[in-house]
Amino acid sequence: MGWTTYILFLFNVIVSSHIHAIHGLRLQIVEVPTAVRRGDPIWLNCTYNLETDDLYSVKWYKNNVEFYRYLPSDDPPAQKYDLVGVYVELSKSYQGNVYLSSSDMNTEGTYRCEVSAEAPSFQTERAERELQIYVLPKGGPTIIGTKFQYHIGDEVNVTCHAAPSKPAATFKWYIHEEEVSPELLWHAPVVRYRDGLLSSQLGLHFIVKASHLVNGVLKLRCLADISQAYSMTSEEIIVGNTVRASGLYTAIDGPRIEGGLTKYQVGDEVDVNCTSRKSQKPAKLSWFINDKKANTGFVVPYELQTYPNGLKASLLGLKFVVRGHHFHKGEMRLKCTATLTKVIHTSSEEVFVGGNQQSSGLHVSENGSAVAAVSISLRQSCWITLTSLLLLCQM
Ligand SMILES: *[C@@H]1O[C@H](CO)[C@@H](O)[C@H](O)[C@H]1NC(C)=O
Ligand SMILES: *[C@@H]1O[C@H](CO)[C@@H](O)[C@H](O)[C@H]1NC(C)=O
Ligand SMILES: *[C@@H]1O[C@H](CO)[C@@H](O)[C@H](O)[C@H]1NC(C)=O
Ligand SMILES: *[C@@H]1O[C@H](CO)[C@@H](O)[C@H](O)[C@H]1NC(C)=O
Repeated sequence: MGWTTYILFLFNVIVSSHIHAIHGLRLQIVEVPTAVRRGDPIWLNCTYNLETDDLYSVKWYKNNVEFYRYLPSDDPPAQKYDLVGVYVELSKSYQGNVYLSSSDMNTEGTYRCEVSAEAPSFQTERAERELQIYVLPKGGPTIIGTKFQYHIGDEVNVTCHAAPSKPAATFKWYIHEEEVSPELLWHAPVVRYRDGLLSSQLGLHFIVKASHLVNGVLKLRCLADISQAYSMTSEEIIVGNTVRASGLYTAIDGPRIEGGLTKYQVGDEVDVNCTSRKSQKPAKLSWFINDKKANTGFVVPYELQTYPNGLKASLLGLKFVVRGHHFHKGEMRLKCTATLTKVIHTSSEEVFVGGNQQSSGLHVSENGSAVAAVSISLRQSCWITLTSLLLLCQM
């Protein structure tokens, strides 16, 4: 796989609106890529089922600002509005499916699709997803500060530097195959560049002991990961004083909201649970009431659930008594967000010191996560090897 390989995480939001008193318009799928490599084009797809309704409009918003609308009654039906970082290509877009010809740092944000039906129902359904832009580093990490040779009792003080990326790389240091303990590490500030890229560094400091040498060789390895945290949200909208008691938005791989009444009034107790989908690493859950993080006093933590195959699911409860101020324009929105972290890029550098090797051997390896592999081109690994060897030779 070449350097141009990229990963697109796509999460479908399947939106269902059961518990509706009136059947009609339903949002079916809202597809927004979670992580996009800077420069890549993007499809934002929103599909719906009108059932007995007629479509009035499909609108797309970024951070609550409209940039696209499709109204069958308009001529032409599809229109776009200029918005920084959102490059709509109308010729390829149709109905709820919008094509963005390119992307840059300003493309990041929360995208919402909103579909509305004509009279008599005037029903509106909406779902939103977060989109993040990532930039992979041009090359693997570099180990700086190694000496030509170390003896037992010598001090080793080296730094691992990552090439600029977004998000910033995180490191792990290994002495031979063993990950070093945190007390040997020292943190250096992340360098921020004007274009939004970040370059991180992590130092390693220790005194050489006999146990660190294998056949007289000290092997140091620095592993750099670029990870993207992404969130999946499920939302429950509780509407007071109307026939429609509650609507439920559930992301297909997002958390599940369970429990609760079909209708709430001031004085009622909300008692609901949010469960994440099973995953290898547990998701971090958060509750939001009307888009504000729920008061810790309302949140009920439960133990992590572990399944026989090692998969885990997190569980977080929300319990509070409804007050008047919880209703905004007659509506109370409860939202649960599950955040997972996915490694999108891994690279490492190794330095061997001592032994029969008069000059230090250096090896740059690069591989990807289970999701997708990004391999470094030969030309780039040569470049890294050369600069690092040069550095070692100078000492
Ligand atoms: C979105 O719609 C476009 C056009 O129909 C299609 O080519 C693309 O594969 C869709 N994207 C996803 C993720 O389904
Ligand atoms: C390790 O090196 C850094 C600079 O590269 C220096 O700031 C730090 O003080 C050194 N640590 C020790 C314990 O010598
Ligand atoms: C939430 O989960 C806990 C632990 O499984 C359970 O005891 C409680 O009854 C659940 N609450 C609701 C509202 O489902
Ligand atoms: C990446 O390297 C690790 C350890 O070096 C290895 O366990 C893993 O299988 C490799 N992944 C791929 C995709 O090659």
